[in-house]
Amino acid sequence: MGLSLKDLCKAYELPMEAMCGGMAMCATCHCYILSESSSLPEKGDIEEALLSELFTTNSSSRLACQIQLTGAMDGLSIEIAPN
Ligand code: FES
Repeated sequence: MGLSLKDLCKAYELPMEAMCGGMAMCATCHCYILSESSSLPEKGDIEEALLSELFTTNSSSRLACQIQLTGAMDGLSIEIAPN
């Protein structure tokens, strides 16, 4: 459908800032992936760089704006990270 995980969170008015609108510039769409999913895309260099600047990252950290949703991600569980 062309939606990102960030778009879905915003559509449901979840407390995700996503200040840059998905341009991979702000990292305020930081979230933790709680469920195992091999269907997630690999992190890109920009995503890795932004996440490395945060104090709240862990191995499950992702930027929601960098994850384009697919049907294979059905059931994915996340937690919105504190900013
Ligand atoms: S919305 Fe800004 S980096 Fe994702």
